[in-house]
Amino acid sequence: MTTASAARTPGVDRSIAVEQLTRQFGDLRAVDRVDLEIPSGEIFGFLGANGAGKSTLVKMLATILAPSAGRASVAGFDVRRQQGKVRRAIGVALQEVGLDPLMTARELIVLQAQLFGTSTGPARQIAERLIVTVGLEDVDARKRVGDYSGGMKRRLDLALALAHDPLVLFLDEPTTGLDPASRIDIWNEVRRLNSEQGMTIFLTTQYLEEADKLAGHVAIIDHGRIVAQGTPAELKRGLGEEVVELSFETADGAERAASVLAGVAPQCRLSDGVLRCYFPVAAREVPGIVRALDQASVPLRGLSIDRPSLDDVFLRATGETVDHAREREAGEPAPATVTR
Ligand SMILES: Nc1ncnc2c1ncn2[C@@H]1O[C@H](COP(=O)(O)OP(=O)(O)O)[C@@H](O)[C@H]1O
Ligand SMILES: [Mg+2]
Repeated sequence: MTTASAARTPGVDRSIAVEQLTRQFGDLRAVDRVDLEIPSGEIFGFLGANGAGKSTLVKMLATILAPSAGRASVAGFDVRRQQGKVRRAIGVALQEVGLDPLMTARELIVLQAQLFGTSTGPARQIAERLIVTVGLEDVDARKRVGDYSGGMKRRLDLALALAHDPLVLFLDEPTTGLDPASRIDIWNEVRRLNSEQGMTIFLTTQYLEEADKLAGHVAIIDHGRIVAQGTPAELKRGLGEEVVELSFETADGAERAASVLAGVAPQCRLSDGVLRCYFPVAAREVPGIVRALDQASVPLRGLSIDRPSLDDVFLRATGETVDHAREREAGEPAPATVTR
């Protein structure tokens, strides 16, 4: 049985290594030859729109789903050949957990700890400790989880994933649909588990800000393939140091500006009627941009200088903003994204 002190012991393997990992569903390659190297003690952000392949990868690493090809190890154990060892080393909070609505939070945590071989007395102590850890101590202990709010359920998911003191924690979209305050609570908890226990945390998200704030390294997955990987700062630097953001009176103006500026600003992206152009030093380029637009009689509404965000990185890597991809998956028509 793994203990919390083992989690803090230097030399304990809490790494994740993924090599050419692939999962096929019929004709669809949900995860396509993914390589990842995540050192012990890292918070890793796995970014992608709906349907990109995040949950499929997490399920393979958690031994819930068999890979079609490739290899992966978690905490030093092979996900195909050492499933029991992987499972004892990890905690998993999946997106679509079915919490028994008639049970209380403590009952569920006790049950979870018992599943991993803890006897009843210690399992009850674990439940009391984790209820406090995830901030559910003020909730009536008799309340059934069917009556919990979304934020409370997410905290309970986290407590359940922690019930056997894992070395590596997988959180699949832990904050999707949460209000901002609950989201920040989860972020703080993730940071604390990582810094105090040295836990490696693999977190999937559609929120680029979340990955930027929490993760040391991130990877972006798109249609099953890794399209960008690095620290958030490296990825942003890869786009150039600064962005000039231009907005226009009309959508037509934005389209015209994109073609007018092709010569002056070769690195521009148009999305939602806003043109973002990347430069090493933006201020130097502004007079030329304004002049070119003026000569072409394209009325400018606003201009600002900004640093590239992870949204810029995502747009560059996938050709789409994460919001558009989400709308597309939800069946709503996505506004045109012109990418040059
Ligand atoms: N059990 C399954 N059978 C068939 N297709 C699946 C299954 N699970 C996932 N998929 C498909 O694989 C792709 C990736 O899904 P998923 O990993 O859930 O994406 P994400 O978690 O990034 O939203 C999607 O196109 C999804 O429809
Ligand atoms: Mg998913």
